[in-house]
This record gives sequence, structure tokens and C-alpha cells, in this order.
Amino acid sequence: MQMRAAVLEEFGEPLVVQEVELADPKPGEVLVRLVACGVCHTDLYTASGADPSGYAPAVLGHEGAGVVERVGEGVRSVAAGDHVVTLFSPQCGECEHCRSPRTNLCLAIREQQNQGYLPDGTTRLSRRGEPIRHFMGTSTFAEYTVMPEIALAKVSQDAPLEHACLFACGLSTGLGAAMFTAKVEPGSTCVVFGAGMVGLGAVAGCRLQGAERVICVDLSEERLELARGQGATDTWIGGEDVVGRVLDETRGFGADYTFEATGNVEVMRQAVESARMGWGLCTVAGVAGKGETLDIVPRYLITGRRVCGSSFGGVKGREQVPQLVQRSLDGEIDVAPFVSHRIALDDVNRGFELMHAQDGIRSVIDF
Ligand SMILES: NC(=O)c1ccc[n+]([C@@H]2O[C@H](COP(=O)([O-])OP(=O)(O)OC[C@H]3O[C@@H](n4cnc5c(N)ncnc54)[C@H](O)[C@@H]3O)[C@@H](O)[C@H]2O)c1
Ligand SMILES: [Zn+2]
Ligand SMILES: [Zn+2]
Repeated sequence: MQMRAAVLEEFGEPLVVQEVELADPKPGEVLVRLVACGVCHTDLYTASGADPSGYAPAVLGHEGAGVVERVGEGVRSVAAGDHVVTLFSPQCGECEHCRSPRTNLCLAIREQQNQGYLPDGTTRLSRRGEPIRHFMGTSTFAEYTVMPEIALAKVSQDAPLEHACLFACGLSTGLGAAMFTAKVEPGSTCVVFGAGMVGLGAVAGCRLQGAERVICVDLSEERLELARGQGATDTWIGGEDVVGRVLDETRGFGADYTFEATGNVEVMRQAVESARMGWGLCTVAGVAGKGETLDIVPRYLITGRRVCGSSFGGVKGREQVPQLVQRSLDGEIDVAPFVSHRIALDDVNRGFELMHAQDGIRSVIDF
């Protein structure tokens, strides 16, 4: 079929929205009609050429939600008409990692996905016979996509898809960092660095876990206002003095849980140093620039602080994304404030500009 899609032609250049061809789903694959898709930092990072593992031409986009149009041979878990959220982090349910409760990093299709191919090593996207690669196994800056069944989470039909799409990346990453990676305990003191989509999700996750105190730190007063709306009990403007302030407020010990959602390695260091001696856990969700490293004085670790990273919030997508979406339907997660702009696919580059200018939290493409 023919469809419109935003293609990364050249790194550092705007995406080009154009007609491309999409082949039928093969066995184990599903054709999805996109209804909504958020514009995320990873799309911009790849488009800019800063990501050394990027490739072109490719159809970008990974924060998608839509409706199953047709399924390939052997697909049993979803059917035409189902509402789905796309997963760049799939869940095959069978690999060593899927069988362990300790990680969400499914091993099933990683290699092909990282190269821009579907699991059989080919693409369904093309233009006049020339293959176009898939991005993150999702390619959701397009009217339709073909994806493996194991990379689709079936969600409630009651969820507005322009909200559900945020669970495909940013929101689940933040919520999950608190709920599934750190497993915040009731009554805890938490500090969240960064109040973008990921940090705000972490604030909400800490609240849902029953944290007593949630301190959110950002440079923008406007974003801190949103953090209060998600349950932050304290909001501070970031800077050099934050670690000292956390210690002052915690009888010199530090916070039970800290979260880093800025991508800045200096802030990551602050998050480590703000974690409580004895048992403080620092969860790093931000993606640092190429070649950057995180400096930690080993004494912080010896005295009981722990550091861990979190990819997609540790969320096992097929199982847990539908649960998170349900919690938003139950009124426990307020998604609407995150959708700051609704744009058309043709305006996808404006979505990048808005993100660059930190204008709003998420631009959502409305197909
Ligand atoms: N681990 C994952 O799976 C995953 C998934 C999605 C995004 N990410 C990463 O998470 C990070 C956050 O994503 P986002 O969409 O929320 O980004 P964002 O840019 O919208 O938010 C980052 C926030 O950090 C704040 N900030 C910058 N410097 C600060 C400082 N010194 N102190 C306190 N706050 C500061 C900014 O004001 C901004 O509000 C990015 O690095 C992104 O690449 C990771
Ligand atoms: Zn993303
Ligand atoms: Zn797996």
C-alpha cells in the first residue's frame, strides 16, 4: 500500500514527509493504522546525526498508538480493531530475559531491530523499490506501520489514543523507573531531577508507590508547576547547591530514592550524591551524550548507596503498559497536562523545534 511517512533522508536535515510503500505483514507481524504519536528526544537525537548507531533513509517515530488493521499468519494475541501501543522494547515472553522478573530487556529481535530491520532481516518500507529502514522497530511517524506481534501492547478501547501513545516511551519510562526499577516503598523520600516527560512520570510513579515526600528539581518554574500537579511535595530550581539542600532536609542522610531524568552527567552525579547513605538508590533514566562518563567517588558506594540504570522504566511492555494505561483511566495518572501541542504529520519538524525550545512537554501527531 501507499502511505505518507516522515523520512530521515540526511542527518541534520529536516525530515521529509512523502509517499512511501508499505508491504503486507508477514507471519508474526501486524499492520497498524496510527492514530497518534508523540515526538520524543530519541527521534531528534537520531535525526541530528548525534547518535552513532543511526541510519538513513529511515522512517522515524516510536511513541505510537493506533488500531490493528490486519494481522499476518499465526498472529493470535491481537486482532483487527484492537487498540495498541507500539513497543520499541518488545516482550517475547520466552527469552531468558523475558522469563526473568529482573529485566525488561527482551533479547528476541534486538540485533535486527538495531539495524533497522524486522525480525526476518528485511524491511516492509520502500520507495520505488529502494528499501527504507524501520526505526526502533516501530517507525510510527507514518499513517501505518508493520510491526512484530511481540512489540504491540493491547490497551483498553476506552483510552484516548492521543494519551495512550505517551505510554509507548516517555511516560512509561518515568513511571516505571519509580514503580518497577526502583520499586519505591511507601513512606519514602524521593528526589527527581528533571521535569520533562520522563521526570514528571517518575514523580507520578513515586506518588503512586506511596512516597511521603517527592522533591522535584528542574530549571524551569513552569515545569515545576506541572510537577506539583503530578504529586511533587517540594519543587526546587536546580543548581550546584541541590545536594547540600537534600542533605539539609534529610538530617544529613540523603533521600531514599533519587531519579535522574535530564541526560546531563553532572546532574547524574548530583543524583548519586543525594542518595541516602546506607540504602539510597539512584536510578538513571537520562541518556548522556556520546562519550560522556559519570563520575562517582567510590566512597559513596561503599557507604551503601546504589546506582542503577533504567531502560523504558523496566516496564515489561505487553504485560505492564496495558496496566499503566488502565491506571490512567482509573484516574490515578493525569495524562492530559503532558500533551502540549497537537500537530499534523506534515508539521513533524515543528515538533522538533518545539522540543528544542522546551515549549511544552509533548507534541502529539494527530493522524
Ligand atoms: N531510559 C530510557 O528508556 C529513556 C526513554 C526516554 C527518554 N530518555 C531520556 O530521559 C531524559 C529526559 O527525557 P525528557 O523527555 O523528559 O527530556 P526533557 O528535555 O523534556 O526534560 C529534561 C529536563 O531536565 C531539566 N534540567 C536540565 N538541566 C537541569 C539541571 N541542572 N537540574 C535540574 N533539571 C535540569 C530541563 O529543564 C528539562 O525540564 C533524556 O535524556 C532522554 O533521552 C530515556
Ligand atoms: Zn522516546
Ligand atoms: Zn523476550
